[in-house]
Amino acid sequence: MAEEAEKTGEVEEMIEVENAIDLEDLPSVGPAIAEKLRDAGFSTIEAIAVASPTELSSAAEIGESTAAKIIAAARKMADIGGFESGDKVLERRKRISKITTGSKALDELLGGGVETQSITELFGEFGSGKTQICHQLAVNVQLPKDAGGLEGSVIVIDTENTFRPERIMQMAKARGLDAEKALKNIYVAQAYNSNHQMLLVDNAKELANRLKKEGEQVKLLIVDSLMAHFRAEYVGRGTLADRQQKLNRHLHDLMRFGEVFNAAIVVTNQVQAKPDTFFGDPTKPVGGHIVAHTATFRVYLRKSKGELRVARLIDSPHLPEGEAVFKVTETGIEDK
Ligand code: GTP
Ligand code: MG
Repeated sequence: MAEEAEKTGEVEEMIEVENAIDLEDLPSVGPAIAEKLRDAGFSTIEAIAVASPTELSSAAEIGESTAAKIIAAARKMADIGGFESGDKVLERRKRISKITTGSKALDELLGGGVETQSITELFGEFGSGKTQICHQLAVNVQLPKDAGGLEGSVIVIDTENTFRPERIMQMAKARGLDAEKALKNIYVAQAYNSNHQMLLVDNAKELANRLKKEGEQVKLLIVDSLMAHFRAEYVGRGTLADRQQKLNRHLHDLMRFGEVFNAAIVVTNQVQAKPDTFFGDPTKPVGGHIVAHTATFRVYLRKSKGELRVARLIDSPHLPEGEAVFKVTETGIEDK
């Protein structure tokens, strides 16, 4: 691991080490206190860092001054202030890498592929290929670096039960990967509602940290679909502000995951194309402005003839707007 990091010149550990800390590494926290904390839901350094001394003291049955000391240490370790010095930001951004989509045209549209430390939003109507691209990326991220992958694992938050292991195997074989191994590197959880979906990001962090200790790097986190639960649960104007607030937090949690693990975040968002109406923009995704502002790459997908699909990049500050045509075939995402 360390050797490999040296070889590839990556300084992977910089931020990630902070998150790989056990509760037991905190001062005055032994196994017994750690267990009490975990039982009370304080399972990560971050959770402790934002707790109050009173909460922690009653959860772990310790004095408040000890609790305060533990919190202070956790804050230091978790870097909870959210500030990073400019050189750290630069260092982190140097590690950004890209995953091939399987289509050169689509990769080029995205500036070389799907980027780590960014949220890529795939939006479009049903059947436009959002889920297919997610499956393909889950395979491609496992490829060697010279084949457009990152030799990484994948976490999938599946909200509509559309993850298909059979499709993964098909795509993996087409790419020369061992299909069984490819499936083992993909960790899938069903999200039952929006709260559960948000909680699963915390679980994803824990899983990614655990895998990291075993030498496995999570390089891709997929949420397919980002909006389905939010849309179903928050109906009507009155609840919109509440929904946006939660969605905002969710997206920031996802972004943080991407930064901490140098992983790509890919989310999908269904839109209804309404060619029969002059009102409303069909390229406007559900979720409104918050999704639009947080996603770094927003890719609008639409169906064309047969297997063909067209991708367009929307509001990207760094890349020129343009379109790419690709196709969804038996073996996966390909150039037309
Ligand atoms: P929603 O989730 O309903 O909003 O749609 P989506 O954008 O996720 O669509 P999805 O990615 O599921 O695309 C579905 C299309 O992909 C189908 O209409 C097929 O054209 C194609 N597709 C899906 N599975 C296969 C497959 O196993 N083989 C082939 N050749 N094409 C497939
Ligand atoms: Mg889908």
